[in-house]
Amino acid sequence: MKNLKNTLFSHKEIEIGPESGYDNYIMAIESSCDETACAIVKNGREVIANVVASQIKTHAQFGGVIPEIAAREHLDSINIVIDEAFKQAKDNANIEPHNITAFAGTVGPGLVGCLLVGLNAAKTLALVYDKPFIGVNHLNAHLCGNYIDTELKPPFMALLVSGGHTQIIDVKSYSEQQIIGETIDDAVGEAYDKVARLIGLPYPGGPKLDKLAQIGNPKAYHLPQAKVDGFNFSFSGLKTAVLRLVKDLKREYNTEELPENIVNDICASFQECVSSTLLKKLKKAADENNYKQIVIAGGVAANSEIRKKIFNLENDGYKVFAPPMKYCTDNAAMVASCAYFNTNTFDDINVEVFSRVK
Ligand code: KG4
Ligand code: ZN
Repeated sequence: MKNLKNTLFSHKEIEIGPESGYDNYIMAIESSCDETACAIVKNGREVIANVVASQIKTHAQFGGVIPEIAAREHLDSINIVIDEAFKQAKDNANIEPHNITAFAGTVGPGLVGCLLVGLNAAKTLALVYDKPFIGVNHLNAHLCGNYIDTELKPPFMALLVSGGHTQIIDVKSYSEQQIIGETIDDAVGEAYDKVARLIGLPYPGGPKLDKLAQIGNPKAYHLPQAKVDGFNFSFSGLKTAVLRLVKDLKREYNTEELPENIVNDICASFQECVSSTLLKKLKKAADENNYKQIVIAGGVAANSEIRKKIFNLENDGYKVFAPPMKYCTDNAAMVASCAYFNTNTFDDINVEVFSRVK
């Protein structure tokens, strides 16, 4: 439970969290990359407003996110998503701005210019409505996407897979977490996007590669699984192996544009290699800690094969949690949930954005 001061204007303390003894309505803003999002969540689990403005179309023409353009788009969208979230809260639950218990915003990691837009909006709302402000770590927030609409409680073993991170996290309690393994080079999402680009798929590559993989043969090509100590991962060698395979196949078929079925088989073989590597280590981490609850989070948790493999563990007696697609990729509902459950947050309204994990 957090005891938070009422912003700058008053010094009354407000209790926030599961033990506060009253309903908490937290409005959160997320703008760490290319989604401008605002949500209002009741008691960390019940979403009463959820708005996401995606910039995918803008960045697709450049083949990736351009930070300066992303920050400007956040500026264009921020007031619209906040207004829409307030409207949904009124329509869905008769909640008005003065009923909000606290305002939260993503502090980092992310693109600094983008984070500044959302964080300053969240701080401003806290000041205007004289409510506490809560700063949230984006990675913690991804894990909390699993608390929405579920009864999940720690402890559990979590796999966090996003565009920037690949971590196995021992979640001991709502606020106590230990990273027990991570990638030593590329993140899984990054590997997906890079491989997608080198086989000629448009941005955003990850979901497109996943789609093609589902119709390809996962055994068509043998790709190497990097041997890395403990619970750490490495994906850059795999990316290079795909690059070499693509070059060889282009030479063999004497074409710059590989036939569709070959592309599908490359995607399926890559996806099989990534998903089996991730799942093997995640299961081992859970077993070594005697955890029967397993959780995945982050944008890559939307991946069909990773979901299939992780849910297969239910046959072995594990309880598996994976957020629905809309709470896998960046959203603000997970940020609001994190502000409620995770005492490991920033409660100083002067907190500054950060680009990398400190
Ligand atoms: O968590 P997220 O929305 O943003 C970050 O915090 O990084 O994750 C975005 C990443 C991108 O690399 C995207 O390609 C990947 O998640 N992604 C997927 C799928 N959906 C999103 N990767 C593989 N399969 C998917 N279905
Ligand atoms: Zn994210």
